[in-house]
Amino acid sequence: MSKPIEVAPSILNADFSNLRSELAKVENADWLHLDIMDGHFVPNLTFGPPIVKAIREYSTLPFEAHLMVTNPDFYVVPFREAGCKRVIVHCETALHLHRLIQMIQAEGMEAGVALNPATPLEMLDLDLILPELSIVLLMTVNPGFGGQTLIKGVLKKIERLRRVIDDEKLDCRIGVDGGINQETAVEVVSAGADLLVAGTYVFKNQVSPSQVIQELKKLSC
Ligand code: DX5
Ligand code: ZN
Repeated sequence: MSKPIEVAPSILNADFSNLRSELAKVENADWLHLDIMDGHFVPNLTFGPPIVKAIREYSTLPFEAHLMVTNPDFYVVPFREAGCKRVIVHCETALHLHRLIQMIQAEGMEAGVALNPATPLEMLDLDLILPELSIVLLMTVNPGFGGQTLIKGVLKKIERLRRVIDDEKLDCRIGVDGGINQETAVEVVSAGADLLVAGTYVFKNQVSPSQVIQELKKLSC
């Protein structure tokens, strides 16, 4: 059974010249989603631990770092030192995923794994990996940029993962990331998602970010 919906605004499409005031607009969210891109794993370059450290004191939200980088193990300690509570790594970049998850947990953080749209759920071993995770982040766009359109084919993957998590009685959230707005949120939540990452819809909306977040949180499965 899904949990109450959590909302994690992504600052990727926030006003980077005004991050302090942008953060103040999303204080009613559950997490702050930090899209870390290195220009290798994805064709875009964003920001790293120094920026995360600089904004830490201007938000009361727990920080989750979404590492869209090669060599994610290089960055676990720096993002813990910068103030992150969770690190989400792409299984496509982890040569030794079990060891990487142990490393994240050894730093006192929650571990999550992200899967690109084309990556099958079978990459998450049911005995060794899935039970260790606080979240599986199913990419609903191909990673690298905000403002893309949700890939509808991922809905079936969400449904399958929901069945697995419920059958195994795991305490793991199903997050979705990319192309989330009020309409697509209804679809992904009814498929079984219970954490919504939204960037463009939150920060590039006529309605205030806090009101957008409030509306998204009202959804329930
Ligand atoms: C894409 C990122 C997403 C993105 C949010 O690689 O992982 O978090 O910034 O996407 P939108 O803007 O579609 O909500
Ligand atoms: Zn993301």
